[in-house]
Amino acid sequence: MAAVHDHDVAHAHDHHPSGMMRWMMTTNHKDIGTMYLWFSFIMFLTGGVMALTIRAELFQPGLQIVNPEFFNQLTTMHGLIMIFGAIMPAFVGFANWQIPMMIGAPDMAFARMNNWSFWLLPPAALLLLSSFFVPGGAPAGGWTIYPPLSVQMGMGMDMAIFAIHIMGASSIMGSINIITTILNMRAPGMTLMKMPMFVWTWLITAYLLVLVMPVLAGAVTMLLTDRNFGTNFFNAAGGGDPVMFQHIFWFFGHPEVYIMILPAFGIVSEVIPTFARKPLFGYSSMVYATASIAILSCIVWAHHMFTAGMPVTGQLFFMYATMLIAVPTGVKVFNWTATMWRGSMTFETPMLFAIGFIFLFTLGGFSGVICAVVPIDIQVQDTYYVIAHFHYVLVSGALFGIFSGAYYWLPKWTGHMYDETLGKVHFWLTMIFFNLTFFVQHFLGLAGMPRRIPDYALQFADFNMISSIGAFGFGLSQLLFLYVVLKCIRGGAKAPAKTWEGGKTLEWTLPSPAPYHSFETPPVVR
Ligand code: CU
Repeated sequence: MAAVHDHDVAHAHDHHPSGMMRWMMTTNHKDIGTMYLWFSFIMFLTGGVMALTIRAELFQPGLQIVNPEFFNQLTTMHGLIMIFGAIMPAFVGFANWQIPMMIGAPDMAFARMNNWSFWLLPPAALLLLSSFFVPGGAPAGGWTIYPPLSVQMGMGMDMAIFAIHIMGASSIMGSINIITTILNMRAPGMTLMKMPMFVWTWLITAYLLVLVMPVLAGAVTMLLTDRNFGTNFFNAAGGGDPVMFQHIFWFFGHPEVYIMILPAFGIVSEVIPTFARKPLFGYSSMVYATASIAILSCIVWAHHMFTAGMPVTGQLFFMYATMLIAVPTGVKVFNWTATMWRGSMTFETPMLFAIGFIFLFTLGGFSGVICAVVPIDIQVQDTYYVIAHFHYVLVSGALFGIFSGAYYWLPKWTGHMYDETLGKVHFWLTMIFFNLTFFVQHFLGLAGMPRRIPDYALQFADFNMISSIGAFGFGLSQLLFLYVVLKCIRGGAKAPAKTWEGGKTLEWTLPSPAPYHSFETPPVVR
C-alpha cells in the first residue's frame, strides 16, 4: 500500500506531459511564444488564401470566379483574420519569447493565465472560420461590421461577434500579463529607462489594449443585443443611432492600428542598432515618442467618419489631431536614420526588412497624412487609395517588422542559423511583389475605384492586373519563408551564443540570458 502511495507521489512530482499534452499544458513562456507564432503563421496563410481569391476575382473585369456575396465574405474575413488572427498573435508571440529574457525575468508573471490566453485563440479562430458554413455564410459587410447592415445578417455574424469576444479576452489577459511582468519582474538594475525598446513599445501597447479591447467588446455586445434581444442601440427607428456604432468602433479601431505597429517599432529599434553597430540614437525620445503616439491615437478616431456627417469644428479637430501624430512618428524615423548614420552597417536579412520597414512604412504614413485632410478624405473614402494606405502600414509596417524580428531571433529560438541567402531572396521577392501589389492601388483609388466591389469598370483593368500578379508573387514568396524557418528548425550551422557580430559590440553585463539591448549606458548590476 505504501509503495503504491509513494509511486503516485513520485509520479505526480516527476510528471512531464509529452506529445500533444506537453503543448496543451505548458506554462513556459518560450513554448507559449512558439505556439502563438505558429498559430499566427497559419492564420496568415489562411487570410492570405482569402486575399489571393479576392485578387483572382479582380484580375480582370467581368471575371466571376466567386459570386459577389462570397466575395464580400472574403474581404470581411480577410480583414478580421489578419488583424485578430495573424498580426496581433504574432506580436504576443514575440513578447512571450523576448520580454522575460530581455528584462531578466524567469517567465511571465501569470504563467497559467498565459497558457489560457493562447488556448482561447484556436477555438475562437475555428468559430470565426466556421461561419462560412452556416446559413447566410460569414459576415459580409466589411471587417468594421457597421450597422444597420450587420444587424440584418445571418447567424455567421453572431459567431463572429462571439469570436471577437473570445479573442478580445485573450488579448486583455495577455496584456495584463505583459504589464505585470514588466512592472514587477525586472532584474535588479533594470530600471524602466534602461529597458530595451521592444519591451517599452510592448508595455505601451499592452496599456492601449487594456484600454480599447473592452470598448470593442461593448460595441459588439450592443450589436449582439440589437440583433437578438430587441434593443435599439443602433436602430434609428427605435431611437438609437447607427453612427454611434462608428464612434465606439473607431475609438477601438484607431488605437488598434497602433497596437499593430508599436511592437514593430520596438523590433526595428532592436535590429537597426545591431547591424549599424551603434547604440540606438535618442533612446529616451523614442520612449516619449511611443507614449505620445499612444495617447494621440485615442483622440483621432473620427477621421474614419468624415463622410458620416460632422460639424466643421469636429472635422478640423480630428484632421489636426491626426496630423499631429506625424510629429512623434517623425521623431522615430529620424532616430532610426540617425542610428544608421555613419554606422558600420551590414545588410543581413533582419536589417533588410528593418530598412524596408522604414522606407515603406513612412510612405504609408505620408498617405495617412493625405487621408487625414478632410476634403481629400471625402474624395478617397471607400476607394482603393485607403486600401493602399493601410496595407503600406500593416504589411510593409507590421508584417515587415515581424519578419525582421523573426530572422533576428530565429537563431536564438532554434539554436541554428537560418539560410542567409534564402532569407535575402525572401526579402527581395517580398519587397518587389509587395510594391507591385499595393503601389498601383494608390492610382486605382485616386481614379475612383471603390473598395469591396467584386467587379469594376474597364479603365481600372491594367492596374488591377498588375496588382493581382503582384499578390500571387507575394503569396508564393511567403512559402519560401516557411521553408527557411522549417530548414532552420531542423538543422543548419549552430548559432553562436551571440548571434550577430554587431550585437557583440553592444554587449552588456547582466547575468545570463544576456539580451540584445539598445541602451545609452549599461545597467548597474548589484
Ligand atoms: Cu485611424
